[in-house]
Amino acid sequence: MVLWRNFAKSLRAFPGRLALMVAIPQRVEHLQTDKGSVPVYTTTVVEQPWDSYTDVDHDVWRTLFRRQREILPGRACREFLETQDAMGMGEDQIPKFSELNAQLQAKTGWTLVGVEGLLPELTFFEHLANRRFPVTWWIRKPEQLDYLSEPDLFHDLFGHVPLLMNPVFADYMQAYGLGGVKAHGIGPEALAELTRLYWYTVEFGLINTDEGLRIYGAGILSSKGESFYCLESTAPNRIGFDLTRIMRTRYRIDTFQKTYFVINAFEQLMKATEPDFRPYYSELASQETIPAGNVLASDRVFHRGTGEGWSSAGDV
Ligand code: PHE
Ligand code: FE
Repeated sequence: MVLWRNFAKSLRAFPGRLALMVAIPQRVEHLQTDKGSVPVYTTTVVEQPWDSYTDVDHDVWRTLFRRQREILPGRACREFLETQDAMGMGEDQIPKFSELNAQLQAKTGWTLVGVEGLLPELTFFEHLANRRFPVTWWIRKPEQLDYLSEPDLFHDLFGHVPLLMNPVFADYMQAYGLGGVKAHGIGPEALAELTRLYWYTVEFGLINTDEGLRIYGAGILSSKGESFYCLESTAPNRIGFDLTRIMRTRYRIDTFQKTYFVINAFEQLMKATEPDFRPYYSELASQETIPAGNVLASDRVFHRGTGEGWSSAGDV
């Protein structure tokens, strides 16, 4: 059961909208366990098998790319749209990691590495700590355009990679990886708290600009439905960034978020996360976690959600 345990751990650490595991037979082994048949991924870095992408794969990329770029101006932060253009990420075909790497290396020293899927926590942190970003090499099927339960190439590449061209965000991601290695050595609570921070910033973060709230979280940027929902729906809360509050806040992996946290600038993320987290981990050990949809008296509330359509159980 060791493999299952590692896999279950990686689900917790690696944000990816994981409700049910979808079996993708052509790239994973299956292991019979007491939890049923579970997919098992290799943790090694793989060469992007670019020549093996089919016309259907390239079509999926093109369709999703166009669809998001049509709705993201005025919704995504300027930095995202600009870096995506600057690195030459376009709609024509699935980008080659090697070509994006040339841009990334020149700009911020990051390298994309191909992977099969979710990685064990420590492996993932070690990549980030060395300015390597793991990108799932395969792309979803045409019938999964709107939802799939784990990260694929579109989520990783379209959502996460452009901002690695931004020097401040690039540094934040590396610092996060270093912090992850450290938290891993401290214990499971520290890890869970640090994972919540990743979730509510890197995956589902909003940023306040002169023009209004904008998206920078990759989980939103790669989802059409959530790109609208996070900004335009009255249902979710939008609350000002507060580091230790976020580290206590549970989240949803199976539905849109109940709460989004808003930063003022990427520099705010850098600054807030600069201190040694050990004292935070000790302090948080005696505090309760906060349900995903709760609003606290101490919150800076941009919008208090109506809670419409929320399911009552299922925060993790
Ligand atoms: N400064 C944090 C620590 O000492 C590490 C960290 C950096 C965590 C950036 C998150 C983001 O643990
Ligand atoms: Fe992600």
